Amino acid sequence: MERNMNILAISGSLRKQSANTMLMQAMIELAPATLNFQVYDQLNDLPHFNPDFDVDDGPVSVQHFRTQLKQADGVLICTPEYGNGIPGVLKNALDWIVSSGEWVNKPTVVIAASPSPLGGNQAHTSILLTLNMINAHILDDASFTIPYITMKINKQGAITDPDTKKALQNSLLRLAGVCST
Ligand code: FNR
Repeated sequence: MERNMNILAISGSLRKQSANTMLMQAMIELAPATLNFQVYDQLNDLPHFNPDFDVDDGPVSVQHFRTQLKQADGVLICTPEYGNGIPGVLKNALDWIVSSGEWVNKPTVVIAASPSPLGGNQAHTSILLTLNMINAHILDDASFTIPYITMKINKQGAITDPDTKKALQNSLLRLAGVCST
């Protein structure tokens, strides 16, 4: 029997019409009922990481992010790639967690989606390095890149490619299965 899990969902894109944000929403809709999602959409509110500001409880927006992470049983990230790396806002968010530890052992699925043929593979590799460093429990077999994303999701945010839809469903089932008893 699978227990209910609270999942924090994060899109690495701030763009209104972001394919990755639509993908994240589509995954939330495809997910089994045992996964309860909370969307964290305040990457833009976090100050630039500076250890000098990480004193006492830290900035209020950082406290909020850390609390959301702490309360989550798992994390889902959908991210684009910029300049062969992860978006600065997403890396900045991770930097705030390096020494605070809320992500340690947390089951984490990372999807990188791009219109390019490589699917944001450099961003995917890069974020996994950082998540490994902070001891997240990365679900490698549920994390992947999606090339040609604009041909696989329509403007309404529906996944139109059956293979992609199936892969995303399997990824979510894997996440839901992590805590099965
Ligand atoms: C991009 N894009 C991009 N794509 C990629 O696969 N590798 C890359 O290195 C980059 N670099 C990059 C830099 C800049 C400045 C822009 C504006 C774009 C394309 C990017 O993947 C595309 O715009 C996605 O649609 C962005 O994701 P969202 O916002 O749709 O989720």
